[in-house]
Parts: sequence; structure tokens; C-alpha cells
Amino acid sequence: MFGSLKALPADPILGLLAKYRKDDNPNKIDLGVGVYKDESGHTAVLNCVKKAEQHRIDTEDSKVYIGPTGSDLFNDEMAKLIFGDHKVLAENRARTISTPGGTGSLRVAAEFIKTCKPGATIWVSNPTWANHTGLFEAAGLTVKTYPYYDYENKNLDFDGMLAALKQVSSDDVVLLHACCHNPSGMDLNQEQWQQVADVAKSVGFTPLVDMAYQGFGAGLDEDAYGLRLMADSVKQMIVCSSCSKNFGLYRERIGGCTIIGESSISVDIAHSVLLSVVRVIYSMPPAHGAAIVETILSSEELRNEWYAELKEMRDRINGNRQLIVDKLVANGVTRDFSFITRQAGMFSFLGITPEQVQQLQDEYSIYMVGSSRMSIAGIANSNVDYLAESIAKVL
Ligand code: LMR
Repeated sequence: MFGSLKALPADPILGLLAKYRKDDNPNKIDLGVGVYKDESGHTAVLNCVKKAEQHRIDTEDSKVYIGPTGSDLFNDEMAKLIFGDHKVLAENRARTISTPGGTGSLRVAAEFIKTCKPGATIWVSNPTWANHTGLFEAAGLTVKTYPYYDYENKNLDFDGMLAALKQVSSDDVVLLHACCHNPSGMDLNQEQWQQVADVAKSVGFTPLVDMAYQGFGAGLDEDAYGLRLMADSVKQMIVCSSCSKNFGLYRERIGGCTIIGESSISVDIAHSVLLSVVRVIYSMPPAHGAAIVETILSSEELRNEWYAELKEMRDRINGNRQLIVDKLVANGVTRDFSFITRQAGMFSFLGITPEQVQQLQDEYSIYMVGSSRMSIAGIANSNVDYLAESIAKVL
């Protein structure tokens, strides 16, 4: 059976990490996979997470199954984090389940959409996270793209986006990045979110909002602004969220999938379908990450500690944006890279060619995705001079 298989290339993002780890150049820089790193290049466990984990070790008294919804406390806390005091919670129109990370959430959402409408079309931004297309196609959805990033002007192609979304069918799903657009770092402003929400309402498509970086852009509430606006306008929507980045729980695989329905009765029906989807994929989510998150969010002390740790990560990334732009100028680069400071979150496109990206990797041990997506968190005071000098050379 396996005889007909042909080896596939490594994943464009995760494969980079394996290469980076094998590289013995002491100056190597990892700007590949989207994980937060501190000044020393380390992805540390947050202090609030350490404390919540200790609490779990001290108090957990059973490893019995938890069921396909996961933890109710985690689900409630996640819904509040996503929606704040939005009316969808008061109206009892939202249902959240715990999922194995943001990717697990997206896959469950995709299977759920397929159950609602076999062969449904999902529109994704051009560009989008490298795994979105494969993931949706693997679930049997048809993937189409709408214009999003204007590579020439390093800006949004908002007119193109809006025009494309006006043409989609009411049966289609449109994937939107809540904040910190991956890979471009280019987000919609408040007015643009309003316009997209208006189009969603008039066309009647179902928004699927991917929120993998809540708190990494401008703040927890600020990053959920567009999504909450969207929830004001549409009757139904799906939100896939992740605790990988903002809680630093990458390997614990914890996220949430939230559906909003027209009424509490219709969302209960949809929820039952969502649970049947979960049952036939992984039966139930892992419990550990959810227990950590719910402990943090339901304790005032740990929650405040988390806010502070999250702010520290956000501020460091934002500081790195200005740092690299200044260092490029200091290295005599005349091309304008100031757009990097106008973007948000973990990523920016540097806007260099695939050959230059390869040259950075081969000659300078600097690793970024082939599209020239840089994970800004990999920049540090200790490596930024070498990075800027190397970029200046390949330019
Ligand atoms: C990324 O885009 O680098 C992250 O979301 C990690 C991943 O799974 O690709």
C-alpha cells in the first residue's frame, strides 16, 4: 500500500525550524516559525503558566474523560476573552468548545462547514497562512482567494478585497484574520472592519474569523474589535482562537472553536453537530492546556500577571519593528522599509525576492519563509546588527 507513495517536501514553515536547529553557525537567526522569543532567543514558559500548572498538579484528582466540549470553565472564559461584554453572550447565542490548538479548531470548523454544506467554498485572503489552504482542502472545501495585500505599495488592497467580497455567494464562508494578519502583518482598521461587516450583512456569507494572536497586536480588546463588530452585523459566524501564542502554550495544543447562531435554539443544534464532528476526529480535546488557561483567567492575581507578561511580549515585538527599520537605514539601505512599523503582530513581509531569502539562509544562516515573511520576535539587540548588515548585502 505504501509502495506508490512519493516523498513530499517538508512543510514550508515547520521545515525551516528543523533546518535552523541543524545549522551550527553561531550567528544564525530564526525568523521562521511564529513563536515568541525573548531577548536571548528563548521561548520561556510564562510565570503565570508555571503557577497555574503547579496548582493543577496539586489539585487534579482524576484523569477521567472530559467529553468532546472540553472544559466548560475554559469555554466560558474563552468566550469572554473573545467577546468581552458583547450582546451575543447575553443573548446566549454563542457556544465555545475546547480544541487541540488553533489548527485543530480550524479543522473542526472546516468539517462542520462541510456538514452544513458539502463542497462549500471558503474564501481566504491572498496571501494567507500557508496551512489554511491545505487544511480546508483536506476537509473537502473549495478554497478561493480574495485580494488582500498590495505587494507593490506594501499596503492593503482594500478596494480589491471589498469588491471581491461583494461577489461571493450567500452560501460561502469568508475567512478573516482578526488581528496580526499572518503572513503580512497588515490589518484592517476600524472603518474597514465596518465596511466588511456591512458587506457580510448584505451578501449574507458566513464569516470564519481566525484569531491566533489576540493580544499581540494592540491589546486584548483592541485585537477583538473587528470580530465583535462583525458579530453585531451577522446572524451566524465561526471564531477559531488559539492559546498557543498569547499564553505561550504552543505544545500543549489548546484553542477554541466558537459558533454564533441566530438564536440560542439554532446554536444548540449547530453545537450538537460540532460535537459529532469532534467525536469522529479526536473524540475529545486534551485537558492540560485548558486547565492552565482557565486557572489563569479565573484568578484575579494570575490574570493580572498574564496581562503584564502578554504586554511585555507585545511591546518587545513592536519595539523590534522600529529597531530593524533604524538598523537598515544605519547600514546604508536606501529602500524604504518603514512599512514594517505600520504593521502589527508577529509577522511582516520584508518584500525581497525568493532568491534573496535563499541567499540569506545559505550564506548568512538567516531563516525566514520563502515569501520573505519574517517572524519579528526572532530579532534581538544581540543579532539585529548582523541581520541588517546581511539584508543590506543581499539587497
Ligand atoms: C506560523 O505561522 O508560523 C505559526 O502559526 C506556526 C505554524 O503552525 O505554522
